[in-house]
Amino acid sequence: MCGIVGYIGQQQAAPILLDGLSKLEYRGYDSAGVAVFDGDGISVNKARGRLEALYNKIDGGNTVSGSMGIGHTRWATHGEPSDVNAHPHLSRSGRFAVVHNGIIENYIALKKRLISKGFEFISDTDTEVVAHLFEYYYKGDIIETMIKVIQKVEGSYALGVLCSDYPDQFVAVRKSSPLIVGLGQGENFIASDVTAILKYTREIYRLEDNEIVVLKKDGVKIYNTDKEEIQKETNTINWDVSAAEKGGYEHFMMKEMEEQPKALRDTISPRIKDGRVILDDVSLTPEYVKNINTIHIVACGSAYHVGMVGKYIIEQMTRIPVNVDIASEFHYRDPIMSDKDLTIVISQSGETADTRAALDRAKEKGSRILAIVNVVGSAIANAADDVIYTWAGPEIAVATTKAYSTQLAVIYLLALHMADALGKISADEYADMIEEIQSLPDKVEEILKNKDNIQYLASKFFSSKSIFFIGRNLDYAVSLEGSLKLKEISYIHSEAYAAGELKHGTISLIEDGTLVIALATGGRLFDKTVSNMKEVKARGAVVLGLTTNEHPNIHDAADYVIEIPKTHELLLPSLAVVPLQLFGYYVASLKGCDIDKPRNLAKSVTVE
Ligand code: AGP
Repeated sequence: MCGIVGYIGQQQAAPILLDGLSKLEYRGYDSAGVAVFDGDGISVNKARGRLEALYNKIDGGNTVSGSMGIGHTRWATHGEPSDVNAHPHLSRSGRFAVVHNGIIENYIALKKRLISKGFEFISDTDTEVVAHLFEYYYKGDIIETMIKVIQKVEGSYALGVLCSDYPDQFVAVRKSSPLIVGLGQGENFIASDVTAILKYTREIYRLEDNEIVVLKKDGVKIYNTDKEEIQKETNTINWDVSAAEKGGYEHFMMKEMEEQPKALRDTISPRIKDGRVILDDVSLTPEYVKNINTIHIVACGSAYHVGMVGKYIIEQMTRIPVNVDIASEFHYRDPIMSDKDLTIVISQSGETADTRAALDRAKEKGSRILAIVNVVGSAIANAADDVIYTWAGPEIAVATTKAYSTQLAVIYLLALHMADALGKISADEYADMIEEIQSLPDKVEEILKNKDNIQYLASKFFSSKSIFFIGRNLDYAVSLEGSLKLKEISYIHSEAYAAGELKHGTISLIEDGTLVIALATGGRLFDKTVSNMKEVKARGAVVLGLTTNEHPNIHDAADYVIEIPKTHELLLPSLAVVPLQLFGYYVASLKGCDIDKPRNLAKSVTVE
């Protein structure tokens, strides 16, 4: 996600901003920029690509004079990675410069209103709206202007703002996106996290939502939205720098699992307005949806597992036939398809070579391409006809978690949108599904708050030589992901099997003590899966059952049980996967594996 740094003090600002931004590179970004007040006005320098491009452009900061400034590394959500879309953004007169981390959910409406007032936009970003709003509401008081602006803006934001009328101070505020204030000697800072300023100070304020901070070189004041000054406790940071990069987590994977509730909220909430799914990103008109012959879902690895979930859900809700293919197989089997087919391509990185090749193949066959991607402006996003972005933020750990979860959320929204277009869902069912989709972040949060049982189970089974995952229907699709998570970071052999298929061969592998993780979350097939649990138990297996809190009788068949909250049956994958992510993580941790960078694996496989 984006990174913000701000400085005011006695030193030249630009070198300090560049240094701070370099400590935020781990967050993932695609462009960077700095704005510095140079005595006369605000000078802005930005560059697409790595921070080095900006560093070279301003000679390490030496070509930019001034001791007050703000800097930004951008993780694109709205608008391609480019110099123009990079932050900071200037207001029309150049009086205000703004950096932003987060998503302005109502930027389209605000942009239309500002354009109607004569404002012109040069970027495709949501953030530029904020720079023009400052201009629009400014009547001489920067704090009052900030209060007015944040009353108009909806979404998540951490903002740093320079105003050329205030050469000795700048302001900042946050809502949902973290922002800290660094307290130095004769200098003060803002930053997205402590990493950026740990070199200069360990004394910080952690801003709470809607706290407005005014920074001068010899002091900092914090106000509420009634313009009343508030007092805050300082925190002293004792972390070493490397720990700080992971926000205090030992591994990026755990940090990203914990980020899933926020990633889900950021992906879902802008796409549900007044109880309706709003997919501004795509042009799937009812007429188009009604004429779809077949949907093909093509992806690799975990993204393919999302496709498996998608098959069950989309077919059940729309009755449109869905084929799911591993991209490397799809590409070479000369698929049978036509221009009446929709191909959904799923990819976190948007750069996976197998998936890109499959996309090209589908395009050659005349199919319309819809991509579900986490990286704005990536190759797959650019090659598709439509793109729905998952706003999970950058995912650093090789083993995907929050990107997988947000891809599932997009599948639910898409299925609901298409089912509604086809008249296949009643108003009550639609409303119920909307309510349950919106409840998922909180329910994931609930699971993440109860890790002890999963940690205990990992401690019992981390020496296993082979672990089986079984399930039926959606539970089978999720068991594929659970098995991959375990394999790729703990190096333990594992297989996921359709529970009803075990007796056709693989059950011969079950012996005394073999761990079988049985997913039995769905009500309709619960009893059948319990039978399969008893089958393997009768042959010596140890059974770990995963179900919702509606099936207490699972204890009759399972030696151990993980319970997840209940939700709409079609949405259970989003909850069932989280304990399996955690199980794989804890097993790998107990085995001392390199969790964020597993052997032989890359985060993005850009070769076929
Ligand atoms: C998942 O944990 C793995 N890192 C891998 O299977 C991954 O899902 C696959 O390589 C696809 O990557 P993509 O989503 O970036 O296309």
